[in-house]
Amino acid sequence: MPSAPIAALKHVTRRYRVPNHGEGAVHAGVRDISANIPAGAFALLKGASGSGKTTLLSLIGGMDRPDSGSLHVAGTILESAADHELDSFRRRKVGFVFQTFNLLPTLSVLENAVLPAILDRRTEARAKDHARNLLTWLGLEHRLHHTPDQLSGGEMQRTAIARALLNDPPLILADEPTGNLDSRSAALVIDLLLALVTDQGRTVIMATHSDQADAVASLVLRLHDGELCGDACPNLSDS
Ligand SMILES: Nc1ncnc2c1ncn2[C@@H]1O[C@H](COP(=O)(O)OP(=O)(O)OP(=O)(O)O)[C@@H](O)[C@H]1O
Ligand SMILES: [Mg+2]
Repeated sequence: MPSAPIAALKHVTRRYRVPNHGEGAVHAGVRDISANIPAGAFALLKGASGSGKTTLLSLIGGMDRPDSGSLHVAGTILESAADHELDSFRRRKVGFVFQTFNLLPTLSVLENAVLPAILDRRTEARAKDHARNLLTWLGLEHRLHHTPDQLSGGEMQRTAIARALLNDPPLILADEPTGNLDSRSAALVIDLLLALVTDQGRTVIMATHSDQADAVASLVLRLHDGELCGDACPNLSDS
């Protein structure tokens, strides 16, 4: 039996106002997206630059709200959630990983990884132990007290993965997580994201231009001009 969806999207549309094009000029970031992402999937979002991958991840992660349509994600109905419910959803249900790592430059690896617990008002000592364990699992036990400028790109991204995992979210959203990495570091990051699925039962949704994760993905959603294009997608080799 297929798993229940961890993310169920129905007719999701997000429009943006276009500057300098007169009152009411809008442009669809994503349009009429319907899809189910099963719990335990390693799902890829693929499409050319501007096709709507980041827009869709932001909606699934409760960082943005749709103009219409519905998103039920990890037990929360996002389009009708109050702001405080969305805050709690973002802190507890999803972990975010970004292309540019988004680490705080003056904090150490350990301090960066422990930040979500501080934001969630949990006791730092326990959270630090948890962060240390995660960083060790990620192969960073010798980097705990380094700052981001002393790390390689792959080490920065593994620090960001530890931070994303600290609150033990069931869903990891990764936006081009390998975009700034050499191919070896990229392969390691993909292996780690896959382990979150296969060994830990989490769900990963990863936006990417790369084909490096195709072989291990359980689901590929293809976007073109803000719409799911399925079999009708143009060739992406030039994206
Ligand atoms: N804040 C915004 N204001 C206005 N338009 C936006 C905004 N964010 C995205 N867009 C537009 O929405 C469309 C989808 O953008 P999005 O960033 O989701 O694409 P993407 O697939 O992530 O692209 P990339 O591969 O370059 O990261 C694009 O046309 C973009 O210009
Ligand atoms: Mg993007």
